[in-house]
Amino acid sequence: MGKITAAITAVGGYIPDYILTNKELEKMVETNDEWIRTRTGIEERRILKGEGKGSSDMAVPAIEEILRKKNLDPKEIECIICCTVTPDMVFPATANIISDKIGATNAWGFDLSAACSGFLYGLSTGSSFIESGRYKKVIVVGVDKMSAIIDYTDRNTCILFGDGAGAVLLEPNEEGLGIQDSILKSDGSGRPYLHMKAGGSLKPASIETVTAKEHYAFQEGKTVFKFAVVGMADVSAEIMERNNLTADDVAWLVPHQANLRIIDATAKRMGVSTDKVMINIHKYGNTTSGTIPLCLWEWQNQLKKGDNLILAAFGGGFTWGATWIKWAY
Ligand code: UT7
Repeated sequence: MGKITAAITAVGGYIPDYILTNKELEKMVETNDEWIRTRTGIEERRILKGEGKGSSDMAVPAIEEILRKKNLDPKEIECIICCTVTPDMVFPATANIISDKIGATNAWGFDLSAACSGFLYGLSTGSSFIESGRYKKVIVVGVDKMSAIIDYTDRNTCILFGDGAGAVLLEPNEEGLGIQDSILKSDGSGRPYLHMKAGGSLKPASIETVTAKEHYAFQEGKTVFKFAVVGMADVSAEIMERNNLTADDVAWLVPHQANLRIIDATAKRMGVSTDKVMINIHKYGNTTSGTIPLCLWEWQNQLKKGDNLILAAFGGGFTWGATWIKWAY
């Protein structure tokens, strides 16, 4: 028996119907469409509307799409890794809520918190479970309802983020396809620049924290931008170098969608032309853990068996990384 690798064998996605345009944001904060487009590349983003709806309500349809496509009984799913910074509740894990909602009664699971790099961390973790030979069907879902933690009076953040979910099924592969290599990094000293101040054990919710708007995402954009531009480009170049991949070998760059300028800098550093870069930031903004799997979801019909994909992300933590995948179908 050959070496077992972990391959993505199906992709599902979900984006809410409601579209929040730049024009609409102009009525909410002191901003304008031109500024948002030129500084970020974003034109609109999706918002999950409705009472009593959380991240699991987007993760579930994304995973159900996979179950339908693969004609899978939910009971066959062995593990669900839910990458998110906007869990339905602090506990129990959203992964447990998802298992219950889809009827994955034989699955265990957990939430993984790595902000915008969440999906890459989850993919690497899920792959190890498959490579070990212990599991044969692992779901990794990246989902965030960013609108739940965004202050729509703060123009520094409200123009950037949106809601969405993307999911993949990981299965064993014996042809050497699937996840080939990952470089994952973190630096907790970056926490002052992108975080949520209250609601954790350090500063539990109180009337004061609510009044001070400390349950919203805070970002010092300029500083994060500087680290992101270098971090995402460096790690993408590093994964190519250590695997002797040239720009010609790369079929697709699948970047985290935080800012078009960060994506462009990464592609440039890799020497990859724009036509090989998956970009949907104009439609969805930054969906945090959702960006990379949502790109795979949108581009899945264009992917060919054996294509080399480089996935790259940078986000809060700081966390960042890159993953090399040989597409398996
Ligand atoms: O996914 C997690 C990781 N996050 C990121 O990667 C995000 C990284 N950061 C960014 O993408 C960018 O820093 C932003 C898009 C957040 C901001 O772009 P920037 O080019 O760094 O702008 P800035 O913050 O330096 O602001 C430039 C100017 C300022 O005015 P002055 O001081 O030059 O007069 C801001 O006050 O633009 C002003 N400004 C705005 N104007 C209109 C800031 N936000 C807005 C706004 N609309 N929404």
